[in-house]
Amino acid sequence: MGEERSIETILEEQRHFDPPQDFSEGSHLKSTDEYEKLYKHSLENPEEFWAEMAEELHWFRRWDNTLNSDNAPFYKWYENGKTNITYNCIDRHLENSNRNKAAIVWEGEPGDQRVMTYWDLYREVNKLANALKKLGIKKGDRVAVYLPMVPELVISVHALARLGAIHSVIFAGFSAESIRDRVLDCNAKMVITADGAWRRGNVLPLKNIVDEAIADCECVSDVIIVRRSDSTAFPCHVKEGRDHWYHRIVDGESITCPPEEMDSEDILFLLYTSGTTGKPKGIIHTTGGYMVYTYLTSKYVFDLKPEDVFWCTADVGWITGHSYLVYGPLANAATCLMYEGSPDWPDRSRMWAIIEKYGVSIFYTAPTLIRTFMRWGKKWPQKYDLSRLRLLGTVGEPINPEAWVWYYKHVGQGNCPIVDTWWQTETGGIMITPLPGITYTKPGSATRPFFGVDACILNDDGKETDSGYLAIRKPWPGILRGIYGDPERFKETYWSKWDGHYFPGDGAKKDRDGYFWILGRVDDVVNVSGHRIGTAELESVFVEHEDVAEAAVVGVGHKIKGQGLIAFVSTVEGVDFGPSLEKELVEMVAGKIGKFALPEKIIFTADMPKTRSGKIMRRLLRDLAEGNTMGNISTLADPEGLYKLKAKYEEA
Ligand code: PRX
Repeated sequence: MGEERSIETILEEQRHFDPPQDFSEGSHLKSTDEYEKLYKHSLENPEEFWAEMAEELHWFRRWDNTLNSDNAPFYKWYENGKTNITYNCIDRHLENSNRNKAAIVWEGEPGDQRVMTYWDLYREVNKLANALKKLGIKKGDRVAVYLPMVPELVISVHALARLGAIHSVIFAGFSAESIRDRVLDCNAKMVITADGAWRRGNVLPLKNIVDEAIADCECVSDVIIVRRSDSTAFPCHVKEGRDHWYHRIVDGESITCPPEEMDSEDILFLLYTSGTTGKPKGIIHTTGGYMVYTYLTSKYVFDLKPEDVFWCTADVGWITGHSYLVYGPLANAATCLMYEGSPDWPDRSRMWAIIEKYGVSIFYTAPTLIRTFMRWGKKWPQKYDLSRLRLLGTVGEPINPEAWVWYYKHVGQGNCPIVDTWWQTETGGIMITPLPGITYTKPGSATRPFFGVDACILNDDGKETDSGYLAIRKPWPGILRGIYGDPERFKETYWSKWDGHYFPGDGAKKDRDGYFWILGRVDDVVNVSGHRIGTAELESVFVEHEDVAEAAVVGVGHKIKGQGLIAFVSTVEGVDFGPSLEKELVEMVAGKIGKFALPEKIIFTADMPKTRSGKIMRRLLRDLAEGNTMGNISTLADPEGLYKLKAKYEEA
């Protein structure tokens, strides 16, 4: 496979980059010895290590057991401990000089700005929490949040967590049908949304999408609307008795609202993500362990210092925005930059202009965006003063060494270490990563596991190897606690491949220095521009069309997006497949999932490669789309058909 080949080249490459000396001198961990000692301690005495780390945060009641594995894989961390994550992210900082420090520095797409100090955030969160209480929201209730990247998104999530209500943030690029599925799956009582969202100078009618989504959701009794766009281009209908303007309900509310004393294992949030079946799964994260894990990874991986301005570009609709905007950095009293819009609005220098303007010192983004910057050219970053930057990060997919080196040279100007962080929605926080003052980096490698993470590479039989499946041997505090409403699927997906080991679904290699190289998913999950899309999810959309008999979707390498989707579709007999069917299918994907999930190509075929027992051979479709030599085709029912399909694909 192409991927394998490029990794071989990397492994032979031997390029490596030492952390700059002044960075190491000022970092939390200063020497390799100090790191090795702490890492060893974290693996040999994990409970002691994680107890010590949790002491850095505030607990209303100390836990009894640091880890309870009696009912594994339903692990319990900090058993019987009582805490509240918003208390740790906000209230804790009001007692010292952080009180008036900027917590969120926000820039809207049209260029408007807002700075919220920790004290401001405290007041806004409490006012909303009190208003939510009046609407009947209480501990354990599920609330969906469908908002653009505005400060009210951070405020809403914290207000819910303050009350102990469970938030389920839905990325604002998802369609009405995706919202409906997520709202119904968890029986959400409320949706928090906005009238509209700015995108490249236009306004997306978010509230109208929500109206369509919840038309038949009896569970939703209230909708809160943040006034953001005030657009006259479309009506924003306010339904009497159900819908409330955000600014009206918070007006006059008290600025104090005692935080709910949450049990460490009470659910903090659900976040839906794609898997290998047609239905997204609601990943469960609980309070105490997730809080400690995101706090600690933020502190060490980003080496946060009081004077830093930290910019994580991820949307809060994904896990990265949860762990490294809403929670982890705030638990460290960091100043976080938040930007609402698109990187090329009004032109391709927007990100660099923001870095210069606010003096961003840590920049954390996705490889797909770095490749986009590369394509746009170095002239854009060169126009700006990026000299405050001291650390760069990437997440979401494997980064190709060319993009890594471009990032290093043209954004970091050769002075900034890069942390390539491997992790997942399910892991809660960063798992494999350089520590910037300590680790020498190799372009394309996420390097070594974080404290307490016992990562290894196993084969199908569970034997350790240098090239195979990534596995994690021990539980860590940030681990998912389940799939909402489906404990069996949780056990089956993550814990059944080998006894007692967590299976993330990624392939990986380890080089002779013990560095990990993540090769990408080994299941039918495709990573498109850092967005996780289950091919089965897309296939089930296609086959809903009455003219479609079968569909198979595969992921193939894509220069900018990392991976793109190719759909092979066969129609029912007698149906003419043409541009109108293609258009209808495209509209269905946009309407049922969201535009970000659109395939690169739809290939109509009557020659779907199948085994004699009728199973579609997706492996061959992947080879075909990647231009690889076809593997074993001896089990194929009609080899001739495959050659016809190949010719057709090459023509398309
Ligand atoms: O395949 C891995 C890839 O992204 C998957 C997780 O996707 P998601 O849950 O959406 O979370 C993305 C943000 C944490 C992983 O299974 N992935 C993530 N980070 C990296 C990566 N692949 C290679 N290198 C990374 N740094």
